[in-house]
Amino acid sequence: MNAQVPLDVSALSTEELVTYIVSRFHTGHREQLPELITLSRRVEHVHAGHARCPAGLADELEAHLQEMESHMLKEEQVLFPMLCRGMNGPAQGPISVMKFEHGHHFDAIERIHNLTQDLIPPDDACNTWRALYAGLATYARELAQHIKLENDVLFAQASQAVKGAQNA
Ligand SMILES: [Fe+2]
Ligand SMILES: [Fe+2]
Repeated sequence: MNAQVPLDVSALSTEELVTYIVSRFHTGHREQLPELITLSRRVEHVHAGHARCPAGLADELEAHLQEMESHMLKEEQVLFPMLCRGMNGPAQGPISVMKFEHGHHFDAIERIHNLTQDLIPPDDACNTWRALYAGLATYARELAQHIKLENDVLFAQASQAVKGAQNA
């Protein structure tokens, strides 16, 4: 999975990085997931008798959307404001919780891959089915970029700052 972040983030302040994550990824996920759920319900309904029908995919995506919404709200309302105010020490607890939840997000992506034969549509798939799997592939790629940016840049910088203060 390509998790390259399409931006030179090293030059950004914490506030700019947070603004980028929310506008590029949180907003994007909130737009994409409901559309993917709608497409999935349609495919599951129309192709219920097909051997490759991804039965249960829409329910899996609904559960994932709820998990993502609660996670992103905690970041936007609690953790990101702490990081923007430089409260790096107190942020360490919430950061471990968010990293733990990132693991759950990857578990959901793995279940989605299992339900869809790795997002490969059958040869006789209709356009909706193909659009669904293409959209899921884009979503999974962007989610991986999003998580990498938080874990490896935003959260890592906060942990570095705490270590730097301890050594000073
Ligand atoms: Fe996030
Ligand atoms: Fe996150």
